[in-house]
Amino acid sequence: MLGIKHPIVQGGMQWVGLAELASAVSNAGGLGILTGLTQPTPEALLKEIARCREMTDKPFAVNLTILPTIKPVPYEEYAQAIVDSGIKIVETAGRNPEPFLPPFKAAGITVIHKCTSIRHCLKAERIGCDMVSVDGFECAGHPGEDDITNMILLPLAARRLKIPFLASGGLGDGRGLAAALAMGADGINMGTRFMATKEAPIHDKVKQKMVEASELDTALIYRTLNNTARVFKNSVAERVLEIEAQEGPTRFEDIQPLVQGTKGRELFDDGDLEKGIWSAGMIVGLIDDIPSCEELITRIVAEAEEIISQRLGQMLSA
Ligand SMILES: Cc1cc2nc3c(=O)[nH]c(=O)nc-3n(C[C@H](O)[C@H](O)[C@H](O)COP(=O)(O)O)c2cc1C
Repeated sequence: MLGIKHPIVQGGMQWVGLAELASAVSNAGGLGILTGLTQPTPEALLKEIARCREMTDKPFAVNLTILPTIKPVPYEEYAQAIVDSGIKIVETAGRNPEPFLPPFKAAGITVIHKCTSIRHCLKAERIGCDMVSVDGFECAGHPGEDDITNMILLPLAARRLKIPFLASGGLGDGRGLAAALAMGADGINMGTRFMATKEAPIHDKVKQKMVEASELDTALIYRTLNNTARVFKNSVAERVLEIEAQEGPTRFEDIQPLVQGTKGRELFDDGDLEKGIWSAGMIVGLIDDIPSCEELITRIVAEAEEIISQRLGQMLSA
C-alpha cells in the first residue's frame, strides 16, 4: 500500500525530519517522512520535497501536524503545497484531519493519521483515512491523556479497525517489530530510534545522550494543560514540572520562555542539551548505538525474521 520493502516508517519529527533522514530511511526500504512544519513556509516545504527527490527515487511522505502553536500556522497553504508537489503519502497528526481530506483524496494521496486512542482511530477510519498509526503511551511527543500502552492499544486496534494500522511508540528493535506484527499491526512507526542514526540531522551530543539514557530518562510535561508531551528529562523539563506542580492552574506564559521551539531547534544544532526541551520516547532505554538507517532497518528486519521463524517457530514444532 505504501510501496515500501520493509514495514518500517519514520514518523514526522519537528526539526529532525529533513531530507537527509527521510531519504536515508526510504533508500533503506522504509518510508521516510519530511516534517512539513519544520519548513518555515509552504514554499520552503516545496523546495525540501524537491531536495529529497534528488536524494532518493523511493517513496517518501510528508507529515502535517495540526496542533496548538504559539504562532498561527497557515495549514491550508501547507496542505496545498503538499498536493502541488505530487507527494502521494501524508502523515497527519494532532487534530482531526477531516478538513484536509477532500484535497488530499482528490490528489490520490494515501493518508495515515496518527492517533493515541481507539476512539480517535475509529473516527479516522470513519472519515476516510486510509491507515492509522496507533501511538501508545510510550511514544515521544504527544501521547494524549489516556495513558494506554501499546500492549492494550494494538490488540484493540486489531479487533476494531478495518483499515491497516502501524504500531507507534516504544519501538526500536526486532523484538518490537515482531511483537507489533503479532499484535495485529501491519508495520511499525519509529521516531526516537531514528534520531540516533548517522543520517539524523542533529548534533552528535544529542545522539550520544540517547545512547547513555535509560528508560527512566523521559518526562511528561504539560499534563496540567491537558496537552501532555513526552520529552527527554533534562533540567529544563524538570523546571517545567516544578512550575506545573505549583498550586493553582498552570499559566502557559510561565513556562513559555523555557519551551520555545527555537530553543529546541538550537539544541539539536549546537548540542547544548540543557538549552530547551526535546521530544524523546521511552525507547531511549533500548538504544545503545548510532547506526546508519540502512544498518538499523536491516538489523530490525533480520531480528524480527529470526524471532518469528526460529524462536516462535520452534515453540510450534516442539
Ligand atoms: C524529536 C521528535 C519530534 C517529533 N515531532 C513530531 C511532529 O512534529 N509531529 C508528529 O506528528 N509527531 C512528532 N513526533 C512523534 C513521532 O512522529 C512518533 O509518533 C513518535 O516518536 C513515536 O514514538 P517513539 O519515539 O517511541 O518511536 C516527534 C518525535 C520526536 C522524537
